[in-house]
Amino acid sequence: MLRGERVTLRAPTREDLDRLARFENDLGFVLAGGGDPPEPVPLERLQRDFDRDISDPPVGKIEFAIEADGAYIGRCGLYGIDRTARHAELGIGIGDSEYWGQGYGREAVSLLLDYAFRLRNLRRVWLEVHSANERAIRSYRSCGFLEEGRMREHVWLGGRYVDNVIMGVLRAEWEGRQAGTAR
Ligand SMILES: CC(C)(COP(=O)(O)OP(=O)(O)OC[C@H]1O[C@@H](n2cnc3c(N)ncnc32)[C@H](O)[C@@H]1OP(=O)(O)O)[C@@H](O)C(=O)NCCC(=O)NCCS
Repeated sequence: MLRGERVTLRAPTREDLDRLARFENDLGFVLAGGGDPPEPVPLERLQRDFDRDISDPPVGKIEFAIEADGAYIGRCGLYGIDRTARHAELGIGIGDSEYWGQGYGREAVSLLLDYAFRLRNLRRVWLEVHSANERAIRSYRSCGFLEEGRMREHVWLGGRYVDNVIMGVLRAEWEGRQAGTAR
């Protein structure tokens, strides 16, 4: 649906779930993202959630599958979309670590920001990331996100506390960057 040079963002399918279950049960991936404490995620739970979202689509959530080289490598989306204040939270997880650190995340986030600002007319996109996730923070910065705040020692990450960083980008800032690239 949204095509970049190497990355496509498309509708999730039930066939993606086998790979998603592998990602969600990979401790390296879960700790890199570092939101909830790791726990086993049964495939059947992902299938149940997928079927529920198909029959009763959640309000304020838009999720894409991330595809590269013809394969499902993760997911990303906009969550908690507020149609009054026109903001949304961005989430992304590339589960196939072979694709980390090569610009795939930057491309997926750029496609998602274009979708949020140009196609959905949102005004602000924000996200949370733990401070030890330098790869993610650098990737988000390169897409225009700025650090807006920090919840100190908010996250328990496999044996230590780390900060929770709030980042955001405003539509006007994103448009300024687009104009700069087009020049
Ligand atoms: C976070 C994530 C989406 C980023 O996508 P990505 O394709 O890996 O990242 P990119 O290649 O776009 O950018 C990575 C940046 O970090 C740098 N980097 C690469 N490996 C790094 C490492 N091990 N440590 C620190 N920085 C690193 C790269 O040089 C690049 O910075 P630059 O643009 O200044 O050169 C992806 O790594 C991912 O999904 N990881 C697992 C789950 C996760 O962390 N989710 C995010 C939760 S908030």
